[in-house]
Amino acid sequence: MEEFTREKIIEILKDDSQNDWLFSLADKVRKEYVGDEVHLRGLIEFSNICKCTCQYCGLRCANKTIERYRIEPEDIIDLAKMAVDIGYKTIVLQSGEDNFYDTDKMCKIIENIKKFDVAITLGIGEKTYEQYKAYRDAGADRFLLRIETTDKNLYEKMHPHMSFDNRLRCLKDLKSLGFEVGTGCLVGLPGQTIESLADDILFFKEIEADMIGIGPFISHPQTPLKDADNGNFILALKVMALVRIIMKNINIPATTAMETLHENGRLIALQSGANVVMPNVTSTEYRAKYEIYPGKICINDEPSKCRGCIEGKIKSIGRSISQNYGFRGKKQR
Ligand code: SAM
Ligand code: SF4
Ligand code: FES
Repeated sequence: MEEFTREKIIEILKDDSQNDWLFSLADKVRKEYVGDEVHLRGLIEFSNICKCTCQYCGLRCANKTIERYRIEPEDIIDLAKMAVDIGYKTIVLQSGEDNFYDTDKMCKIIENIKKFDVAITLGIGEKTYEQYKAYRDAGADRFLLRIETTDKNLYEKMHPHMSFDNRLRCLKDLKSLGFEVGTGCLVGLPGQTIESLADDILFFKEIEADMIGIGPFISHPQTPLKDADNGNFILALKVMALVRIIMKNINIPATTAMETLHENGRLIALQSGANVVMPNVTSTEYRAKYEIYPGKICINDEPSKCRGCIEGKIKSIGRSISQNYGFRGKKQR
């Protein structure tokens, strides 16, 4: 297979005449390296309270218009149990950066959920090495922390009061602690260049990430980026396809943001390199309030409905649902 240099990646991203070739090559590499099984991860969005001010995100603390919520630790554990009972082998715990869940609380949640014989993925933001270590010791298996963009200037513009170097430190700490590390980027941030997207892809490879989530940016009306255009679905798909071709056996979710921009977004993504879907298992009373961007899918659907819905869709394209934990690179047919 030809080498994907920075120049080559930029050329592919800029030239839409090669899209069909790109998507079918990504699908072929996906089939060869991770097989036809799709891993489902049950997503619990347990708090929409966040101390950060990411310019693009509806949960940013400066947004005073959303109703905030926190799910109590014992209720998070109950939600996880329900998700395991309906067949999930991984629970993803995601939230804003909410210090209410201190290290003790987080570790208790992790330890209790681990009793259900399930893998745990965390997506709870930037923490210290000691905190990450405590989560790992408590049993957490994976951690998602998108770099969002590797363009340092753009990163710092998009994340007031945060530092690019600390983001890198977090990813390095997570790797050294033995987590499966997930990162990724937003596609279509105002001011982002195609060249920087190519750098994002090369960065994912350089840090040997185990999971990569690519999401189109979707403009939220209660943020400073309210007048910005949404990211482009096809461009996000192309970035994802290139990641599959270059990184081969990693796990790649068909992201919910893709489905928000295109009614069949997740299925198209699954046929262009993705092998993971993360259906929401949060109770419906909270779903609409976790509004990172407008138009979020499934806000009124019960967990069991989403599970059945996505299973049907996956089977309709000739793929099957994995019955195992879905760690990186273990091809099961
Ligand atoms: N607070 C944690 C963090 O930032 O890592 C986890 C939750 S955060 C809501 C999860 C992801 O949502 C972020 O990594 C970001 O890429 C994505 N996100 C936030 N705002 C978005 C928007 N307007 N459009 C698309 N994705 C968005
Ligand atoms: Fe908070 Fe994450 Fe949203 Fe940033 S992206 S404001 S850290 S929830
Ligand atoms: Fe929620 Fe289809 S995945 S209703």
